[in-house]
Amino acid sequence: MELFDAFKTRESCRAYADTPVDRQTLERILSAACLAPSAGNGQPWRFVAVTNKDILTALTPLTHAPGINHWVGQAPCIIAVWEHISDRMTARYGEQYLNMQWPAMDLGLSVGQLCLAAAGLGLGTCILGCFDEAKVKALLGIPADSVLRVLVTLGHPKEAAPPRDKKRLALDSVAQFIE
Ligand SMILES: Cc1cc2nc3c(=O)[nH]c(=O)nc-3n(C[C@H](O)[C@H](O)[C@H](O)COP(=O)(O)O)c2cc1C
Repeated sequence: MELFDAFKTRESCRAYADTPVDRQTLERILSAACLAPSAGNGQPWRFVAVTNKDILTALTPLTHAPGINHWVGQAPCIIAVWEHISDRMTARYGEQYLNMQWPAMDLGLSVGQLCLAAAGLGLGTCILGCFDEAKVKALLGIPADSVLRVLVTLGHPKEAAPPRDKKRLALDSVAQFIE
């Protein structure tokens, strides 16, 4: 898929077919996520890709909040993206950049690539920011003192449909040009 088409094709998918995502496809998508840029090439992203049905069953209700995420149980795969804590960046660049939150930025870039890679393979994703962080980390064996940034559902969309129109602010309301 052409890159600029992928930007339009990628959309949050909240209805999945009951079709598994195979390991090779998962590795392809995660490898694309790992090609993202990161501050000092620190690569603080860590992934836990869950396709095990029992773990998915336990994980799903931990994403539920009133009126949100009640469709998550359909997803054949959920990827947890957590931030590996390291003082490497501080050692290299000092503390002056700590409030720039580089690792959060790095993970965002990586998740963006993950979602676009999935779209390129015809798969749907939805980033989830709402979940019980402590319980999800305990369930998936993610260190309790790390930050679990997002979960990403992944799977084959239930229905093939053209991409929805994007609801986005007008470019001139978010971008300035100094020419
Ligand atoms: C950090 C983050 C957290 C999000 N959390 C949720 C969520 O918990 N549940 C959900 O259904 N969508 C969630 N979304 C998806 C957004 O609602 C969606 O990206 C946005 O409305 C734009 O729609 P689109 O992805 O279809 O282009 C999240 C997106 C991001 C980037």
